[in-house]
Amino acid sequence: MPEQQHYHGDDGWAKVAEYLDAISADRILLVTGNRMYCASGAEQALEPILSNKEVTHLSCCHTNPRVEDITALLDQIDHKESYQAIIAVGGGSVIDAAKLMKAFWSNPLSLDDYLGCEDHSDLLPAPLPLIAMPSTAGSGSEATRFAVVYKNKEKYSVEHDELLPTFSVVIPSLLKSVPSHTAAASGMDALCQGIESYWSIHSTDESRQLAKGAIELAWNWIESAVIDHDPVALEHMAEASHLAGRAINITKTTAPHAVSYPMTSHFGITHGHAVGLLTARFLDFNQKVTEEDCLDNRGVDWVKGRLREISCKLGASETEEASDSLLAKMRNLGLATTLPALGIKTQDDVEIIIQNGFDPARVKNNPRAVSESALRKTME
Ligand SMILES: [Fe+2]
Repeated sequence: MPEQQHYHGDDGWAKVAEYLDAISADRILLVTGNRMYCASGAEQALEPILSNKEVTHLSCCHTNPRVEDITALLDQIDHKESYQAIIAVGGGSVIDAAKLMKAFWSNPLSLDDYLGCEDHSDLLPAPLPLIAMPSTAGSGSEATRFAVVYKNKEKYSVEHDELLPTFSVVIPSLLKSVPSHTAAASGMDALCQGIESYWSIHSTDESRQLAKGAIELAWNWIESAVIDHDPVALEHMAEASHLAGRAINITKTTAPHAVSYPMTSHFGITHGHAVGLLTARFLDFNQKVTEEDCLDNRGVDWVKGRLREISCKLGASETEEASDSLLAKMRNLGLATTLPALGIKTQDDVEIIIQNGFDPARVKNNPRAVSESALRKTME
């Protein structure tokens, strides 16, 4: 897998300038969000760095980008061969949009056609350096080789080693102006990506070390980051998000993420909010793992041992208590914790999630097998 250069610190702008000089990039595609790009101070900081470059600036205003959004962005690029770098500044959706643009810059198949075919081996991302600068603490997308895209409300993950950003620059002060609800949901995404990576059947010593750091930092600092905008807490949340990204880059996510996507696409629930609610439920679900439904080759005792460690990191002695603590944390952050409060009110609503919540690849990463009836019970 390609190595990534990484920098964390409020003086990251100078590092971006040095990097652009080092790769002699004069023709640049800049992909950003809309309001936050200006409000975070990123626009002001980048302007002098890019003043002597030829820059095409595209705004990706879509949270959870769809195939047509990426296609529309790509259609705005002329003379693709003249570009020397892509810079993405924004939340996970913006960084994912930049990755998808790089992936389908000159790929023989369009994104739409690619998602429609079975064999995904022939993706040819453009050999363009990608500089990713997150302006929220949550997805850790700057540290992964995946990008999420929606087609007809269905979630797809496009994956390639070359989609790992070549340079990730985490500037904690960018997080200061993130609205509270976005910060709370993003922070829950970082925390839960850490938890899911920790219990994933693909966890390794390295991934668990990364996930442990993410869980501990996010658990301890999320409230002061979201509620008080405390600079030290923002710094720790930025680190938590990045560590969680690196952890899931090894393990991928598991059942809560798989089930969360239809909650987002069909009911408009913010990604991290849905993931938080589901992680609390899957803590209880996974604790009941048996020899018959254990998917981790290391066995039931191994899985339960990891769940105990997760609970401990959440300040609890057992998973039930950890699950309650997680929900209490969400309420403290102003995030509703019941399905009806999020618009999932009828059995038909629950069925929409169940019918669309079985991404086979993601559910298979969960330490306990998830059947349709088990999921129905988990959603009660
Ligand atoms: Fe996530």
